[in-house]
Amino acid sequence: MKQLGAILWLTGLSSAGKTTIANRVAQKLQKQNYKVEVLDGDVVRTHLCAGLGFSKQDRDTSVRRIGFVANLLSRNGIIVIVAAISPYREVREELKKTSTNFIEVYVQAPLAVCEFRDVKGLYAKAKAGEIKHFTGISDPYEEPLNPEIICQTDKFTPEQCVKQVLDYLERQNLISALDKNLISI
Ligand code: ADX
Repeated sequence: MKQLGAILWLTGLSSAGKTTIANRVAQKLQKQNYKVEVLDGDVVRTHLCAGLGFSKQDRDTSVRRIGFVANLLSRNGIIVIVAAISPYREVREELKKTSTNFIEVYVQAPLAVCEFRDVKGLYAKAKAGEIKHFTGISDPYEEPLNPEIICQTDKFTPEQCVKQVLDYLERQNLISALDKNLISI
């Protein structure tokens, strides 16, 4: 069967679990020979988005660049998994309108939980004033209003969140039920 492309756009606070879910979904799909690419904010900021900072303007530029590449891949049959805070609603909506099979995934955990996890120690630095414009602390995060999927990472395990995403892809006929069942979680 010909593979259909899609963009799974994971948005959410730092330490919400975007990268974990993105990489695990990618791994599951790759095991079943789907063509997948992951575009992670932390990674693309070293090349595609190098030189951009964290002002609203720079974040929007970064998100648009990721969206541009994601759309090129998606329309050529690749499943693209984006993991980027992408805090501004308007630019996410813009991409949703202009992309092929754009699926907004809100990777959600309360700010207090993200601060507690503080995977990279950045919340502590932001609260100490060492990092300016830090999302959730000194910069806004605009929650999605109508995401296709909400992964509540404080209530469900990464495996359950991955299953939620795969189930959605199956319901949309973007992956086949048979393949999903073969992907043991
Ligand atoms: S976005 O807002 O432009 O979409 P992106 O996902 O690319 O953000 O990058 C976020 C990553 O940059 C975080 O995971 C963190 O490691 C790092 N970072 C550095 N400074 C900031 C900041 N001020 N706000 C958020 N993340 C920051």
